Amino acid sequence: MPFPSDTTPDTEVFGLIEREVERQCTGLQLIASENFTSPAVMQAVGSALTNKYAEGYPGKRYYGGNAIVDDIEAIAIDRVKRLFGAEHANVQPHSGANANMCAYQAVLQPGDTVLGLSLDHGGHLTHGSPVNASGKLYHFVAYKVTPGDERIDMDQVRDLALEHRPKLIVAGTTSYPRRLDPAPFKAIADEVGAMFLFDAAHIAGLIAGGVHPNPVPYADIVTFTTHKTLRGPRGGCILSTAEHAAAIDKAVFPGWQGGPLEHVIAGKAVAFHEAAQPTFADYARQIVTNASALAEALVQQGFRLVSGGTDIHLMVVDLRPFDAELTGKEAQAVLDLAGITLNKNSIPDDPRSPFVTSGVRIGTPSVTTQGMQEPEMAQIAALIARALRHRTDDAALAAVKAEVAELCGRFPAY
Ligand SMILES: Cc1ncc(COP(=O)(O)O)c(C=O)c1O
Repeated sequence: MPFPSDTTPDTEVFGLIEREVERQCTGLQLIASENFTSPAVMQAVGSALTNKYAEGYPGKRYYGGNAIVDDIEAIAIDRVKRLFGAEHANVQPHSGANANMCAYQAVLQPGDTVLGLSLDHGGHLTHGSPVNASGKLYHFVAYKVTPGDERIDMDQVRDLALEHRPKLIVAGTTSYPRRLDPAPFKAIADEVGAMFLFDAAHIAGLIAGGVHPNPVPYADIVTFTTHKTLRGPRGGCILSTAEHAAAIDKAVFPGWQGGPLEHVIAGKAVAFHEAAQPTFADYARQIVTNASALAEALVQQGFRLVSGGTDIHLMVVDLRPFDAELTGKEAQAVLDLAGITLNKNSIPDDPRSPFVTSGVRIGTPSVTTQGMQEPEMAQIAALIARALRHRTDDAALAAVKAEVAELCGRFPAY
């Protein structure tokens, strides 16, 4: 029987997909948590594996017909274990948020005390925000960055750990521009008898590429997303020591999820293969070089950077010294009109609400995938500053948009 769309093509949805591809390719994609995944990854994600139910794990499924899917999932597990040097891997989490909730369920009881970085200082919702299930199920205590240098205050982490005796310490960030050394967290966790979870959602690709310390030798559990710097399909992953393997697997299925997305797991396997190639280390290095170049150029344009700069793929820009009236919300909207996509972001102790903010977050993974380098970073900083300076001038914004399209046209993603 023909599929209905064979005879009546869905021009509505496919027209929108075409427009989105055009938007991605003609504008600057500066959202720090996004990337352009490879055609090979997209081919795997768009494959017939989406048809298969595979509740369970390789060799222990609840449905028949899983011999091939078992091989695919086993390859993904093997590749990611080798990539990061982990004893155990679970590649089934549908997202980074799921990976964290599964990890918590594996080692915590409701009400247990956990230490995590405050959301408004760069942590993630799943690190204990009161509006997230993590904050409702567990007793999270938040550590912060110092008011002086805006870096994570390890003395405060230790003091809070000694005071609250958490069962788990979580390290990991969403909008913190500095490298996150796992060793001091591990030392504090050992001192107070806590377990240690490192959420590497943002920096997994930097770790795989060798430009950020690998938390695997230090942490009981490492969670991450596969779609940010790692450049794979949208999804999550959990690594752990052998000691926690059975509890992690049980927490993912049947604890939190049903059938795994085997087409996405195939995409993850392809991405792990890509990340193991020597060229991926070059890519990771260039992401960081580009972020430093962009940060420097933004400072020259009159912006202030939270913590004074960046060591990784992202920076958080305090807009107030550039223009005291300009909010993150307005900057995001204006830059959208100019073909520059980024997101508003709170700065530490932001006087404005999280819906308005005084800052924006900027990342270089996507433009680096496109092949842009330091000269283009200076151009991007100048385009951002020009658009924001002339934000009420439609003609000026249109001119910036045209320059953005010309720049992106020289570095096609696909
Ligand atoms: C540190 C951190 N953990 C977890 C997540 C959640 O990932 P997802 O959006 O795939 O649920 C993110 C996403 O931005 C993140 O930055």
